[in-house]
Amino acid sequence: MKALLLAGGLGTRLRPLTENLPKPMAPIANRPWLEHLITHLREQGVDHFVMAARHCSDVIRRHFGDGRRWGVKIEYAVEPFPMGTAGAIKNAERFFDDCFLVFNADIVHLPELIPLLEFHRQHGGIATIALTEVDDPTSYGVVEQDDTGRILRFVEKPRPEEAPSNRINAGLYILEPDVFRYIPAQREVSIERETFPRLIQESAGVYGMISRGYWRDMGTPSRYRQVHWDVLDRRFPLPMQGRQVQPGVWAGEDVEFGKGVLFVPPVLIGNKVKIGDQAVIGPYAVIGDNCRIGARVHCSNSILWDRSVVRDGSRLSNSIFGYRTVAPAGEVFKNSIINDPGEVMQA
Ligand code: GDD
Ligand code: MG
Repeated sequence: MKALLLAGGLGTRLRPLTENLPKPMAPIANRPWLEHLITHLREQGVDHFVMAARHCSDVIRRHFGDGRRWGVKIEYAVEPFPMGTAGAIKNAERFFDDCFLVFNADIVHLPELIPLLEFHRQHGGIATIALTEVDDPTSYGVVEQDDTGRILRFVEKPRPEEAPSNRINAGLYILEPDVFRYIPAQREVSIERETFPRLIQESAGVYGMISRGYWRDMGTPSRYRQVHWDVLDRRFPLPMQGRQVQPGVWAGEDVEFGKGVLFVPPVLIGNKVKIGDQAVIGPYAVIGDNCRIGARVHCSNSILWDRSVVRDGSRLSNSIFGYRTVAPAGEVFKNSIINDPGEVMQA
């Protein structure tokens, strides 16, 4: 089975973290989300991936190459200009001559594919959209269905009074190659605003099926943080790296703790991390590989990407530090999102 991963958005709402990084490469529990996704999908029988990328596409290519290390084949469809969600699919047409999967690669979920594929075969549509239910559908694509599952209306980001239901597009599609005939080439096309409405209008057969289990879009700082707290609370059963050194505290290899370090669970620490004397880590702290945490640092509700350094006595709460961020001694970081030492954004 082949899958197209849409990973070319600008990740605007996660800036500055996504300034030099495609959003789906942002780490979740210390590994790029795309790595978790590809590993999960491989277990579900997907062995061939096409990356639809543009913004910082080299970061993806350098990390995954041809996919051999992950036991899959990975190819790249890099867009000459931002082509939108359907334009990116059209741009990858040459890779697909059979039924294929499409993923919004910024969605954090571990979907079961077999029930969706069975549903798609039984209903015989041109497209099956995986759906999930949310309390507030206004920042998503919302559907109205009949009782056979056929989608009668698809409304992208409706106003509250216009949302036909709370069933939303979960960002996973099963498409027949016939779909390519409905997407114009060489221009920006949105699958949500143009292609799905057109397929529905022309009765081409667009169906929706609820995909159960954990689901979250990681596209804003608060959602990105919440995914981490859900991992730590084990509400999202992402495989954890490392072993539990005390209840609710996971640590990787070669971790060095100073004297009197206090862990307040839940906490996840990567490999080769050093933590200075009397630091207080947690609750809700995720610390990436090779991070250095100074003495007496307090770190709660925060996420540090690999190789970050927090010098003695600093306090972090509700903050996210990008790769290799260095925080000077004795500073207070509250609601800070930092991607390099010079740049601080309040969120
Ligand atoms: N290759 C490529 N080119 N990928 C793109 C482009 C593009 O021009 N534009 C967006 N993408 C990718 C993004 O990287 C992301 O993985 C996915 O397409 C969806 O784009 P977002 O910008 O994250 O859209 P959204 O979150 O506002 O809404 C979408 O996702 C919702 C679920 O979270 C829509 O599909 C909604 O209908 C859906 O409910
Ligand atoms: Mg999104």
